[in-house]
Parts: sequence; C-alpha cells; structure tokens
Amino acid sequence: KLLNEVKEFEEMFSVSAEKLQEVTKHFITELNQGLSPEGGNIPMIPGWVVECPTGKEKGDFLAIDLGGTNLRVVLVKLGGDRTFDTTQSKYKIPDAMRTTKNPDELFVFIAESLKSFVEEQFPHGVSEPIPLGFTFSFPASQDRINQGILQTWTKGFDIPNIEGHDVVPMLVKEITKRNLPIQVVALINDTTGTLVASSYTDGDTKMGVIFGTGVNGAYYEEVANIPKLKGKLADDIPATAPMAINCEYGSFDNEHKILPRTKYDIAIDEASPRPGQQTFEKMSSGYYLGEILRLAILDVYEKGCILCDQDMTKLNTPYIMDTSFPSRIENDPFENLEDTDEILQNELGINTTVPERKLIRRLCELIGLRAARLSVTGIAAVFEKRGYKSGSVACDGSVFNRYPGFQEHAAQALRDIFGWEHGPASSYPIVLTAAEDGSGAGAAVIAALSKKRLEAGK
Ligand code: BG6
Ligand code: GLC
Repeated sequence: KLLNEVKEFEEMFSVSAEKLQEVTKHFITELNQGLSPEGGNIPMIPGWVVECPTGKEKGDFLAIDLGGTNLRVVLVKLGGDRTFDTTQSKYKIPDAMRTTKNPDELFVFIAESLKSFVEEQFPHGVSEPIPLGFTFSFPASQDRINQGILQTWTKGFDIPNIEGHDVVPMLVKEITKRNLPIQVVALINDTTGTLVASSYTDGDTKMGVIFGTGVNGAYYEEVANIPKLKGKLADDIPATAPMAINCEYGSFDNEHKILPRTKYDIAIDEASPRPGQQTFEKMSSGYYLGEILRLAILDVYEKGCILCDQDMTKLNTPYIMDTSFPSRIENDPFENLEDTDEILQNELGINTTVPERKLIRRLCELIGLRAARLSVTGIAAVFEKRGYKSGSVACDGSVFNRYPGFQEHAAQALRDIFGWEHGPASSYPIVLTAAEDGSGAGAAVIAALSKKRLEAGK
C-alpha cells in the first residue's frame, strides 16, 4: 500500500526535462510582458541602478538587510580595488512581527537594531552622516533609487497600512527620532543587492538570485529594452545604459497556465493571506516546502495508510514544519532513519515505523527536487532572453546554502533545459556560485553609486 503511495507522489512531484523547457519558454513570454507598458504577472521592477559597479567604489557605508529570516545590520568598507570588508550583526525576525497589526513595530525594530550597531561601531560618533543602503526584500516599486512603494507583502508577511506606501520615510522617521547620523540613500531588493555585490567582485556575473524563504532573481537589462520606461528616464541616461531589474518572478504563472500544481499547492495558495499571488514561489521556496510536506503526510494519514492512532494535534497546525524539517530528514544518514524518528517524536509528538519514515523521507526528496528543478527555470529564461550563452549566477538564501542536494539538482535541471553534456556542475556554461550575505555589500555599492549621482544633482 505504501509503495503505491510513493509511486503516486513520484508521479505528482516529478518534472521532466520537456516540462522544464516548456515552463522556461512561457517564463520568457511573461518576463517580456512584465517589461511592456501593459504589464503582466511578473512585475519586472526597474531598480534605478543604471551603472554596473567599476570595482573602484570606495568608503564606509551602512546597510540594512531585511531578508526572509533575519535582519542584518552591516558596516561595509569598500576597498576601491574590487574588495570589501564587512562587519555585521544579525537579528532573527520574531515570528509574530510578520503579521503584527502595528505597522510601526517593524521599523522600530530596525531602527533600534541600527542604533545599537552604530553605537557599538562608532562609540566616538561620526563627523558626517553615514550613507545607508536599505535592502528590502519585497516587491517595491520605485521612480527613483531612494524610494520603495510596497506592492504586496510576500513570504507570509501581512502587516496592515504598508502596502501601497513608500517604506523609506517610515524608516527615516524612526532614524530621525533616534538622532542617528545616517542618510538613507538607496532602497534595493535582495536580488539586486546580490547581483551588484557579485558584479563588484566578478565581472562575469549575469544574475543575482535568491533561493530562500522566497525565490526571485535580478539582472541588468538595457534601458532601450524596457518599453514601460519610455518617457520616465532622466536625459542623461543613454539607451544602452544597464538598468538593474528586480524581476519578482515569484509571481510567475499567477494565471495557472503552465506550472504542474498539485492539490497541496492549491490548498496552500487558498489558505494564504494573498491567494492567487506568488504561484511560482509557493511551489519552490523555503517558506512553503515544510507546509507542502505536512499536507502530503496528512493526506496519506487521512486515507488510513500511515500514523494510525497517533496524536495529530501538532501535525494539524499549519506551518508547524519550517524548511529545516524536510532538510534534516533528507540529511538523516541512518538506514532506519533514526534521526527522523527523533525529530518526529520530539517535535511533532508522533511515533513512526521504519516504512512510514521511508515514505516521509521520499516525500522530502521529491519536494526538494521539484523545488530545485522548477526554481532554475527563472534563470534559464533570463539567460535565453538576454542571449547569454554562459556566465555566473550569484546565489544566496537558506535553501541554496543549506538544503541537501539543492545545488546539484539545480545544476542538473539547467542541463536538462539546455541539453548540455552530462558532467560536474562546475563544468556547465552557467555556474551557480554562492554569494552568502552578499546583498548587504551590494546595498553599500549601490549606496556609493547613488551618493555620487545625488551629489551630482541627478
Ligand atoms: C541573505 C541575504 O543571506 O539571504 C538577504 O543577505 C536575503 O538579503 C536572504 O534576503 C534570503 O535568505 P532567506 O533564507 O533568509 O530568505
Ligand atoms: C520574495 C520577495 C522578493 C524577494 C524574494 C527573496 O519573492 O517578494 O522581493 O527578492 O522573496 O527574498
């Protein structure tokens, strides 16, 4: 009976090479729609970073990096020679803050963290305000670099009265209240930050991509290829200037035309704070992998196939399993899945037999594999669209850095899409490189570029 269940899951979660190619093709269509004046599912947000860094940018900058799981405050010293040093403090974003009813709470949290960091790093004060780049990893529209109007919350955040508003003044208000010697000069997305930080050190970088709580990518597009910007550009920006685009491709296929959604993906979407949005992200990013696993386990339980007579109270709680669950289960080295037994017993209060654990482990493998395979279609689409034959992709996020096998599966999926000869991931034309915590440094580089433009009155 369990073997049948496994077979059914294998069919449900596997994505063939042909399917990946079809998805990539549709992805390119949606990326192009996003750049058109009419728009489409994918926002394709211009980041107003209209220069690639030269590597010569220099000086001390602060960055706030509000990621999916952590807030980081970073002091970045750009060396001016393609090198930088960072000193950072990391603060876990309290779970309750994701859905607090008080919109000030988030910015008070950020400003207080910033205050203690600045006091620690500059005990004797500073002679002039330090420029700060704010990495805000949500879809935020911008008409200029130091603005960010939140379009919609993603990744389970749901705080009232922020959507539709510029978050920069909200941050500045709290900074001013505390008299901090800081000038907010730029707001960027984490993907743009990752892209720019890696371009600073590696001129061959084509994209910045996050595989974390959310999934998204950024790349440079020539302004001439962005029809929706017509009439909005300052005169000094040439048609060949490279504009960083935060794709926000977590919202790919919101019309449900191509992605192989399962009943679990549909259930997750329907129960989410923003149904109908972030279709691609809901199938492939870290915020949802544990929840997909939970729903699948419950489904087999309800059929009477596993966990009979167990107390299901905890497993019935939405989002009780974060991505560390499938990740730790996949990492279990024991034949009888002893570690898994302990995790399920201690954290979910359920006792399992070896065959039950084997089914659960197989499920984790399938969910992780599907996420890796699907999530690189965004990269393939950008490379195809731009006509890039090779290059590096700077990658960050908890899933990329920590999910077992993810990097290998992602590389193999790119091979399936492009039909490369089988070989080690590092030999493929598109190389996924780790850029851990790069976006803070990227925010600093962008702050340096923006400061130069602001001072020139542009
Ligand atoms: C961090 C980056 O390392 O990864 C952040 O510095 C980014 O900018 C984050 O948002 C994404 O990872 P996760 O797993 O926390 O969503
Ligand atoms: C979500 C956010 C996006 C971010 C990504 C990775 O998709 O909307 O802005 O880049 O998560 O953190």
